[in-house]
Amino acid sequence: MRKPIIVGNWKMNKTIAEAVEFIKAVDPVCHDGATFGVGTSFLALNESIKNAKNLIIAAENCHFKDSGAFTGEVSVPMLEEIGLKYCIIGHSERREMFGDTDETVNLKAKRLIDAGITPILCIGETEAQYDAGETEKVIREQLSGSLADLCPKCVANMVIAYEPIWAIGTGKSATKEDAQKCCAIVRDQVRVMYGDEAADNVRIQYGGSVKPENIVEYMACPDIDGALIGGASLKADSFIDIINKVK
Ligand code: G3P
Repeated sequence: MRKPIIVGNWKMNKTIAEAVEFIKAVDPVCHDGATFGVGTSFLALNESIKNAKNLIIAAENCHFKDSGAFTGEVSVPMLEEIGLKYCIIGHSERREMFGDTDETVNLKAKRLIDAGITPILCIGETEAQYDAGETEKVIREQLSGSLADLCPKCVANMVIAYEPIWAIGTGKSATKEDAQKCCAIVRDQVRVMYGDEAADNVRIQYGGSVKPENIVEYMACPDIDGALIGGASLKADSFIDIINKVK
């Protein structure tokens, strides 16, 4: 049985104080029906980890090299040092604005897995690709590159977030039928690459305008094991609402 996983991705929002305030309000509401967590800025990770008993805390990026002349970057050993257990990689905002590619995302996944940190790998098509009927092709290609040369057990333990770019921050969420269909394609591609054990155990999230009003319908889909949530994860009340609906 796959345990559902709901993660808020705060992106470049929340100071350390705001992060801690949120965690103090939300942490006690978490329950065993799912893993709940938030992705914070690098700066807020340490205090967030210290204040969270139930919420898992994720970084939103990492570098694949351990050290060196990479101004402004944060390495996996630095994340390990503070006890980090999850890291979002390959978010479409990083792919579009900061040059992340399937190749670099794959290197990040490998380095995180070596450190025992669970990657939350993001993929998803643009609106133009969706309109051109290329969604399945894009999903399979992104996974072929981002998941290349890993071990089946490693992939089984990962989280993959399918986030159609046209649904991110737009309020235009995918229908539950579309989201289910695409998450089933994700699972099938994992099966093609790494076999049944990986495909049956990997947790697949849907992301894109998820909110308290639609979380239940996504969670009812057989291939959707959770959600990666942007806007609706920023307010404690709204995230608590989501937590209470995932029972
Ligand atoms: O990673 C989560 C995200 O990109 C979705 O954002 O605001 O549409 O829930 P949002």
